[in-house]
Amino acid sequence: MISSSDLKKRFITFFQEHNHKLIQSASLIPEDNPTALFIMAGMHPLVPYLGGKPHPEGRRILSVQKCIRTVDIDEVGDLWHLSFFEMMGNWSLGDYFKKEAIEMSFEFLTKRIGIPVERLSVTCFAGDEDAPRDEESARTWEVLGIPKSRIHFLGKKDNWWGPVEQTGPCGPDTEIFYHVKDIQEKSTEEFLELSNSGPFCEIWNDVLMQYNKTKDGTFEELAQKNVDTGMGVERTLAALNGFDSVYECDTLAPILDKVLSLSRHGIERTNRSARIITDHIRAAVMILGEDKLIVPSNVEQGYILRRFIRRSIRHARLLGINGKFCSDVARVAVDIMGDSYPELKRNSARIFDELDKEEDKFSVALANGTKQLESMLNRLGASAQKELGAKDAFDLFQTFGFPLEMTVEMCKEKGFSVDVNGFETLMREHQELSRKGAEKKFRGGLADHSEETTKLHTATHLLNEALRKVVDPSIHQMGSNITAERLRFDFNYDKKLTDEQIKKVEDWVNGVIKAGADVSFRIMSVDEANKLGAQGVFEDRYESKVKVYTVAKGSTVYSIEICGGPHVKNTRELGTFKIIKQEAVAAGVRRIKAIVE
Ligand code: ALA
Repeated sequence: MISSSDLKKRFITFFQEHNHKLIQSASLIPEDNPTALFIMAGMHPLVPYLGGKPHPEGRRILSVQKCIRTVDIDEVGDLWHLSFFEMMGNWSLGDYFKKEAIEMSFEFLTKRIGIPVERLSVTCFAGDEDAPRDEESARTWEVLGIPKSRIHFLGKKDNWWGPVEQTGPCGPDTEIFYHVKDIQEKSTEEFLELSNSGPFCEIWNDVLMQYNKTKDGTFEELAQKNVDTGMGVERTLAALNGFDSVYECDTLAPILDKVLSLSRHGIERTNRSARIITDHIRAAVMILGEDKLIVPSNVEQGYILRRFIRRSIRHARLLGINGKFCSDVARVAVDIMGDSYPELKRNSARIFDELDKEEDKFSVALANGTKQLESMLNRLGASAQKELGAKDAFDLFQTFGFPLEMTVEMCKEKGFSVDVNGFETLMREHQELSRKGAEKKFRGGLADHSEETTKLHTATHLLNEALRKVVDPSIHQMGSNITAERLRFDFNYDKKLTDEQIKKVEDWVNGVIKAGADVSFRIMSVDEANKLGAQGVFEDRYESKVKVYTVAKGSTVYSIEICGGPHVKNTRELGTFKIIKQEAVAAGVRRIKAIVE
């Protein structure tokens, strides 16, 4: 059996013998490439040199690069696809081209790691209006011993690589497939069919970078022709060792073992959820382990990271893993990957900590959100509808933190689709509103003690109290923001308030307003405030003495709250209190906007 480190060593040695210089794996987070979220191929860090700029290490380069690919995320869980993988590659920067590149690939595969020629098929570019059929590559393979019947010609969709962005270096490629079993030769159509579903697995891609795609969409010959190859470590290892899937590789199997040990009895190694967790937690570990800090969030790399973690948690529930598990699984991943990537060991505390935090954040929301989704689907089912509306999907995102892709996956399992375009429109509108809000807040500047904001400060205290009285006694303030136009109040609660609850909250506040309660304050110690049962955040930032505002009429106390003010003298000054909006801001956090008029 060959180990992954052994395979990597053999690759490095072979190409060093062929005068290639080894460069270190770049970080997964691209340095100067704002359009790509993650490094997805070994060529990525070499892009600046493909156009002719000399590389300090010369014209023949070799690397083992860590990669993240999310385009195949739906395929993860099958035999071959992974979100994180290691890519071995060799490059010619204006040095050798097709023939030599193919000869080296063939020699490495058949001589150095002993894959029998009968187990290989290759594909070449069939040609189109942009570039001719790649006869030279096909002839080279044939001379080396691959029979014509196992050389398939395919179009751009299958045999073309790049550019990474809209423009840049690209070209036809020739791909090498391993036959998992000794199967009969196939027609190109059958080959295509099977290569997507299992028996043929692409292990190496030689890109023959011949063109530059320009802004107007034309393909011009590159002055410097390059070779860019990429071979998946996990796939090649699986092929060599006769594994049933990539999950049996030494860089994945122990993680899978851990997942299975936490699962309910009887879950098979081939279980899709177990594989997804194995892949996703490893990918999350690799991202969190980067020196450049990426944490789960709703944007860019942080969102991908969040999806990996949240999707793992959901699949864990399907396996009967109900407690916290992410950092347990991550420990195994750090152990296995940490020798090749020391940054994981350096940053391990942070990796576990961020996983724990995200898991805490999402676990409760997942259970509640799943119930909510089920009731949405029941409702749709009852009216024979098959598509979940954009608004529902957006609610799940806002209230429970369900990534859209997760909602889509969950719906699909139950035979429903999702209005993805509609969701995206809502998302854009939402982002636009937040942007405008942020600008306004910025312009708003320092604290405003106008008559309007003073009224809204007092109304905020009453709202805080009303929510506890009407909705749930454990509600407390999680955020507040007041402008001259409205108050905004965030609190811990994970359901949408019903119309009836909204009405009752308004009524309670308006009742206190009408009662004409006095608003007064006293300075006291935090301790004393505590004893009085004052609301407020009892944190260090409060000095030992605090200002406590009381809203009361005679012996009836409506609200006691620590606060800097300003406040009205009597609630009668407020007019009428009205809730204008409620929404979710994060998992388990709701927001109310209200006015007085
Ligand atoms: N850049 C090529 C690929 O990723 C080798 O397949």
